[in-house]
Amino acid sequence: MATSDTLRYTRIPLTRGSGAIPAVGFGTLIPDPVATKQSTETALEVGFRHFDCAERYRNEEAVGDAMQEALKAGKIQREDIFVTTKLWNTNHRPERVKPAFDASRRRLQLDYIDCYLIHTPFAFRPGDEQDPRDERGQVIYDSGVTLVETWQALERLVDGGQCKSIGLSDITLDKLREIVAAARIKPAVVQVESHPYLPEWDLLEYCNLHGIVLLAFAALGHGMEPRLLDDPVIIGIAQRLRKTPAQVVLAWAVQRGTALLTTSIKPSRIQENFELSTIPEDAMREIRGITTSVRFNAVVETGVPGFIRRAG
Ligand SMILES: NC(=O)c1ccc[n+]([C@@H]2O[C@H](COP(=O)([O-])OP(=O)(O)OC[C@H]3O[C@@H](n4cnc5c(N)ncnc54)[C@H](OP(=O)(O)O)[C@@H]3O)[C@@H](O)[C@H]2O)c1
Repeated sequence: MATSDTLRYTRIPLTRGSGAIPAVGFGTLIPDPVATKQSTETALEVGFRHFDCAERYRNEEAVGDAMQEALKAGKIQREDIFVTTKLWNTNHRPERVKPAFDASRRRLQLDYIDCYLIHTPFAFRPGDEQDPRDERGQVIYDSGVTLVETWQALERLVDGGQCKSIGLSDITLDKLREIVAAARIKPAVVQVESHPYLPEWDLLEYCNLHGIVLLAFAALGHGMEPRLLDDPVIIGIAQRLRKTPAQVVLAWAVQRGTALLTTSIKPSRIQENFELSTIPEDAMREIRGITTSVRFNAVVETGVPGFIRRAG
């Protein structure tokens, strides 16, 4: 579909780092490595240039393979893509940060990472077990390191040149304020759950004031109940504008000034999620008027992923 609407190509310049982040991002939280590689390839083909990864997803190699093939075939240049990955909770101790970063970079097969995030503000017992538990099944946290100490280790990665920007994920506004106050290199990106049922307006306002990009995950509500894409307001707008409900919700996210992540293993949906165009101001206002309030992912409370995508 030819269109002069450039919403899908929106790039948000980073004031706290180099480059610009494409607003419409593809998330790689896909359990199966074959599906990860295929979906990443499809995402590249349909036009996604922003990829969100994590050591916790255990599939950085598959994402890296897909990107390498596109790079080697000359379909993209390295500077065309923006790649984020994340430090897992078990690697918060400063001496573990650089090795974890280098391991992610190696698996992704990239010389540099565009943005490195602390996946959650919760430190778990350091080690190779990503989900350390005691005999009662309780998470084993690590009280031997502070978030500021971990942040300072990320700052040193930026000094090293192989990490272009740094940020936080699953963070509350209060904790973000603490890091901004203590930081030598301020956060460039904050990745949190956000969608019309959890718009996080206060956090967005703070981010705008401090030159931080708010990157929304679960932009489609994780596909969980209550289904955002079945919301009568969203459906009404979609019918009126001849778009899909997903396209309405994603356009809203870009137009209010956030970057976003979606994930699908279905090629037609990957394409649908990139083919965005502007929605009118009255539709933006209608979505803002939605009063349903839902947090789908409890990770922000414990550091434990509250939602793992089903396999297959
Ligand atoms: N920082 C964190 O703690 C954190 C937590 C969770 C996720 N994330 C990141 O955010 C990314 C996005 O994941 P998400 O679950 O939040 O994404 P999402 O896009 O909100 O939800 C994905 C679900 O929606 C379905 N879906 C995708 N496109 C659709 C469409 N056009 N119409 C109808 N259903 C659609 C998918 O099913 P199909 O695959 O069957 O299409 C899947 O079940 C992840 O990959 C990850 O990178 C970060």
